[in-house]
Amino acid sequence: MYDSGKIITGLVIFLAIFTYPLWSNMGKAAPVPKPELPPKSVATQCVADTNYMRTSHMTLLNVWRDDVVRMGDRVYVSANGKAYNMSLTNTCLECHSDKVKFCDQCHNYLAVAPFCWDCHQVPKPKEKE
Ligand code: HEC
Ligand code: HEC
Ligand code: HEC
Repeated sequence: MYDSGKIITGLVIFLAIFTYPLWSNMGKAAPVPKPELPPKSVATQCVADTNYMRTSHMTLLNVWRDDVVRMGDRVYVSANGKAYNMSLTNTCLECHSDKVKFCDQCHNYLAVAPFCWDCHQVPKPKEKE
């Protein structure tokens, strides 16, 4: 007969050592980013579906840039029929008025640093009312 007590104890010790790097890191990893959304009084919806924005805002920004720079078209109409001026500074950062508390939250976490701000202006964050 196997000594199941010893086997189980052995397994527990093995697992504890084997998985130590996982659980010893718990709570120490960089905190998940919490981008600060615009206050409800400013807007409750983005220029496109939130999930699309979360995953594909870089694609949308490229489309906006190409439309403006190549086609001279500055008006974007969202799925719900609202018209927006296609502008990084004047539109995205009009609602998301604090780049540091919004865009940078995710980008720093992911270690991406879009070079857009070499040329495009970052407006001063608005005072909260
Ligand atoms: C009219 C105001 C407004 C404009 C303009 C706007 N946004 Fe948003 N955006 C919002 C709101 C409000 C939300 C949150 C929506 C929700 O909670 O479902 C949001 C959500 C997002 C999210 C997802 C955030 C998250 O926590 O997952 C991203 C990314 C984003 N916007 C990027 C942009 C970019 C890039 C632009 C310009 C192309 C832009 N937004 C223009 C109001 C705006
Ligand atoms: C909810 C998290 C989140 C928020 C908020 C967010 N981004 Fe991003 N952003 C990402 C992710 C994820 C990527 C893709 C990184 C990758 O492809 O490696 C990205 C990439 C980008 C890129 C492409 C960068 C590159 O080098 O390819 C641009 C441009 C960009 N974001 C602009 C913005 C702007 C402007 C805002 C604020 C208005 C913003 N993002 C807010 C998560 C976010
Ligand atoms: C080398 C300078 C430079 C860099 C870097 C740059 N842009 Fe631009 N961008 C311009 C210029 C110049 C225009 C044309 C301005 C106009 O006609 O209003 C423009 C226009 C745009 C527009 C439409 C007009 C507006 O007001 O926003 C968008 C959107 C845009 N760029 C997005 C981006 C994004 C996203 C990045 C980073 C991934 C980026 N740009 C990086 C110079 C630059």
